Amino acid sequence: MVDISEYSQMFRDKKFEEISIAERTLANGLEALRLQRDLDIINKYAQGPNFCDFPIGTGRIYPNFQDRFNVFGYDICGVYVDYARSKQPDFVENFQECCFEDPYDKVKMDTIVSLRVFNNIGDKKTAMKNIARILNNNGVWLLNIPPVLFNDATFHTNLKQAGFTIEDYYGYDWVSSWKQMNKLEARFRQVITKFADLKLLPYFLYKIIDHLMPRKGLIMVVARKTL
Ligand SMILES: C[S@@+](CC[C@H](N)C(=O)[O-])C[C@H]1O[C@@H](n2cnc3c(N)ncnc32)[C@H](O)[C@@H]1O
Repeated sequence: MVDISEYSQMFRDKKFEEISIAERTLANGLEALRLQRDLDIINKYAQGPNFCDFPIGTGRIYPNFQDRFNVFGYDICGVYVDYARSKQPDFVENFQECCFEDPYDKVKMDTIVSLRVFNNIGDKKTAMKNIARILNNNGVWLLNIPPVLFNDATFHTNLKQAGFTIEDYYGYDWVSSWKQMNKLEARFRQVITKFADLKLLPYFLYKIIDHLMPRKGLIMVVARKTL
């Protein structure tokens, strides 16, 4: 048995009925813009032939790469994997229930994308080594993490020891830093959310605002397997 965090256990034990709740929280204008921003960055670095969305969650990311790559999707949550398989009946083997602590290792990847998760992984050092193990040499791992983790020296030491070199990183996703916002920022975030929901906020404008806001909610790390 591998040791996993409480956060991971909560997802592992999810019931099928909970998928629709998770999907509903993502079905709004602001989330659509955030997804576009994630995809924009991923698109700059994604390489094939094998692309793995790890973890897939409800399937925000992987469908956007199926026209170009052999797409794989892994997650600790069995019902998310079943859900993806039900949507991809010809590729069920590409979707596997597994975790960072013990990943499916029968296929080597050229790109692995890990969004909105890594900060909550218990044993990050082991997870990094495992990601390196299922990546081809010169493969790329894109992960987004809060600035506080990016500013932690141990994160960089572990990444290096696992065989990665940071090729690039982007501070972005101001809207997700809501816990740190002052009243004015929080009010502005509400306005942004409203405009996004009304589809009155074009992506280019959202991107400019996100760029100009000094506070960053996430750092997208582009790590290349170099060892
Ligand atoms: C907030 S969701 C993000 C899903 C997806 N990456 C996205 O950006 O939409 C977090 C995901 O991490 C998965 N997860 C949590 N702990 C994990 C672990 N130890 N190994 C693999 N997946 C894990 C959960 O099942 C869930 O699907």
